Amino acid sequence: MQNFPIIVTTGRKPTEADHARAEYAAETLGGRVVPRRSDSVAAISEKYGAPVIVVARDDTIVLEEANDTMFFHPSMAHVRLKNIRLHGAADHLITALDIKPGQSVLDCTLGLGADAIVESYAVGEKGQVVALEASPLIAIAIGYGLAHHNGENNYDTVSAMRRVQVVNADYRDYLKSLPDKSFDAVYFDPMFRHPMEKSVALSPLRELAEGSPLDEDSVKEACRVARHRVVMKEAWYSKEFARLGFTEFSGGKWSKVRYGIIRVDK
Ligand SMILES: C[S@@+](CC[C@H](N)C(=O)[O-])C[C@H]1O[C@@H](n2cnc3c(N)ncnc32)[C@H](O)[C@@H]1O
Repeated sequence: MQNFPIIVTTGRKPTEADHARAEYAAETLGGRVVPRRSDSVAAISEKYGAPVIVVARDDTIVLEEANDTMFFHPSMAHVRLKNIRLHGAADHLITALDIKPGQSVLDCTLGLGADAIVESYAVGEKGQVVALEASPLIAIAIGYGLAHHNGENNYDTVSAMRRVQVVNADYRDYLKSLPDKSFDAVYFDPMFRHPMEKSVALSPLRELAEGSPLDEDSVKEACRVARHRVVMKEAWYSKEFARLGFTEFSGGKWSKVRYGIIRVDK
């Protein structure tokens, strides 16, 4: 999690819009805007003791560190939506959640937003997707992208993106605040307990993500909040499914990930 000052800047040749977006980000995050001039991100990081810098540039909000960048891009979701639309292919997440147009989903782990966009497409214009993200930096970068990116100029992708309601909150608190049976489905995609790609180096950007394991109490709360199903994504071999009471599964035959399902309407 982030335990350093929040520093916001612009690109090297900022427009008026970049300045305005930087102010918006600083105000939302309780951070400080510093001038970019010709400084590198590494130099700004060192000067202010902030390993990750929030940068307003290229019509969006990007998180940058010396050697890595995190920004919203709808490409993964776009490919999944195309498969559903053009080839009628079932999306394993939608099958697991068993959601239909007009229904509602609480996505407890927004991350880069791909799953939330696919859920939003599945529930359609009359449905609702609320997506929670514990990291304020990830929430603003991905939330801004969902609200403003042109989504490959595709109407279905863009409208699905725009309907995702991002909330910067920890699901351990947020779930407790919700009434019984207030969403059709509740979804968790926590950071894998044992990452599959051991070669991925831990960087300050990756460390922004909340990495605590899903807890039994939150699963219990999710079962109270859901009318229909609670779903968790994990590695196919994960012991988390058994530990947390997910006994039914869905997912591709050859896929490295599985969706564990708890039916609460049985
Ligand atoms: C594996 S990613 C989710 C990926 C996402 N499903 C997607 O399609 O991009 C997990 C995300 O959930 C967030 N997260 C983890 N624990 C959380 C919690 N207790 N409350 C809210 N967000 C949490 C992490 O910060 C991280 O951004």
